[in-house]
This record gives sequence, C-alpha cells and structure tokens, in this order.
Amino acid sequence: MDRYTLITGATYGIGYELASVFAKNGHNLYLVSRSLERLQHIKTTFEKEYEVKIAICALDLSLEKSVEELYDNIKKEDIIIENIVNNAGFGSFGTFHEVDKHKDLNMIDLNVRSLTHILKLFIPELIKNSGGGIMNVASTAAFQSGPLMSVYYATKAYVLSLSRALKIELKPYNIKVVTLCPGPTDTNFQSLAQVKKAEIAKKSMMNAKEVAVEGYKGFLKGKEVIIPGFKNKFLVYSSYLLPRKLIHHIILKVNKG
Ligand SMILES: NC(=O)c1ccc[n+]([C@@H]2O[C@H](COP(=O)([O-])OP(=O)(O)OC[C@H]3O[C@@H](n4cnc5c(N)ncnc54)[C@H](OP(=O)(O)O)[C@@H]3O)[C@@H](O)[C@H]2O)c1
Repeated sequence: MDRYTLITGATYGIGYELASVFAKNGHNLYLVSRSLERLQHIKTTFEKEYEVKIAICALDLSLEKSVEELYDNIKKEDIIIENIVNNAGFGSFGTFHEVDKHKDLNMIDLNVRSLTHILKLFIPELIKNSGGGIMNVASTAAFQSGPLMSVYYATKAYVLSLSRALKIELKPYNIKVVTLCPGPTDTNFQSLAQVKKAEIAKKSMMNAKEVAVEGYKGFLKGKEVIIPGFKNKFLVYSSYLLPRKLIHHIILKVNKG
C-alpha cells in the first residue's frame, strides 16, 4: 500500500508551500481544503512536476461531519497515512465582545476541534502502522495572550500545548510530533482575519515558502517547536525575559496598527 502525507488547508499560503516541499521530497499527498477546483489544479501540476501521487478531498473541516467523512474516504482507498500536517486555520481581529460570535466559534471549530478530531481518528492508524509524523501548525501567537486577537491566540496556545504533550505520549510509538509556529507571514490570512498590524510588523513578514522550507527541515529533525526566521525566534525567546504586562502592551500596540 502506498504511503501518503495528509495536509489540511493545502490550497493556499503556508499549506500550499508545505504541500510543494513535501511533494518535492517524494511524499505522496492527500490534500484537503474547501476549493475543489484549486485542489484539482494542484493535483495535476504536482503529479507532473514531482512525479508523486496526489489524492484530493474538498471539505469544509469546520463542520463536524467533515472529519468523519475524510476518515471514511481515506479508509475506502488502499493507502496508508504516514504523516499528518494539520495546517488549515484562520484568524479574527477585534475586541472579543465585538467580533461576530459565529466567526469566533467557527474558528474554534476549525483551529481546535477539527485538528483534535483528525488526531483522534488518525493517531490509532499511525500506531497500527508502526509510526509516522505529525506537524501541527500553531503560531508565535501561541506563546502569549493576544489582545485584539484573543480567541485566535488562544486557539494556537491550545495547539502548542496539545502538541507538546502528544510528543511525549507518542514517542514510544515511533511517532514524531512537531509544532510549526510561524510569525506574521504574507498569505491570505491577514486580509481574511481583517488584521491591521503596525507597519513594522507588515515589513517583517516572511513569505510562505521560507516558512514551509524551515518547517519541513524541522519536521525531518523531529524538533519540538519550529519558529521560522531569526526575528520571530528572537521575539518569542525575548518574551520569556520581559514582564508579561509589557509583552501584552506591545502586542496590543502592534495589533492596533
Ligand atoms: N499567515 C500568518 O501570518 C500566519 C502566522 C502564524 C500561523 N499561521 C497559521 O498558518 C496556517 C495557514 O494559514 P495561512 O497563513 O497559510 O492562511 P491562508 O493563506 O488563508 O490559507 C488557509 C488554508 O486553509 C484552508 N481552509 C480555510 N478554511 C478551511 C476550512 N473551513 N476547511 C478546510 N480548509 C480550510 C484554505 O483553503 P480553502 O479556502 O480552499 O478552504 C487555505 O488553503 C493557519 O493555521 C494559520 O493560523 C498563519
């Protein structure tokens, strides 16, 4: 049976670039996102360019039934999922009481519930197949609270915390768990979340390809946390040294734009 890497949110941004780098390195891919046409285009292009097998499935993962549907679809095919890249996610911007409740709840459904549901269904499969790898995409936002993006930051703190615990639990099963924590990256994310961000933060954005390449290298090494880019690493590690009040004040200023 052929082995595949499952990647969610693979049509645009960081997920698309992760799909490219995995394909370039010979991994067959099982790609999931909502846009069927874009998935079809990626399948045709990657199969030609990288000579790997690409399976696709168009689903809205924020819907509870979608993850079960994904699992059932994969079970029907004669394939083994050996790696899982949980990347699909989005953000929301504004004060907690003003952001539309449906938007924030939908974000929790995608960033937290669907990621957890995918792991619940597929980790037993990885164990049965004697190992594999998991990359969960969190953010530098996972390391502190984020005034004006409070729910988003909290979803990413969940992803980081869960991943670190799973890394320890799954070691005896030969399953590596890494958490990719990008800083601001130039993708559709910023406009979809209606993020303002200060000019300085906009200027220091990485591009999605750089993030994916660093992410893949860290994945191969089985690093616990991958923070792409020197500036992002510096900001995260220096935040451990500064008083929390000051950190939250700086984040508020940056998020205000
Ligand atoms: N960009 C940043 O500054 C940044 C920083 C740190 C962390 N991150 C994280 O990186 C991950 C990728 O974000 P990105 O910046 O690459 O954003 P993006 O360009 O908006 O890409 C998001 C991807 O997720 C898919 N997606 C969105 N909603 C979905 C749903 N309900 N069901 C299935 N797929 C869905 C989108 O495809 P469809 O529209 O086709 O569904 C797209 O492929 C997210 O988890 C994000 O939180 C981003």
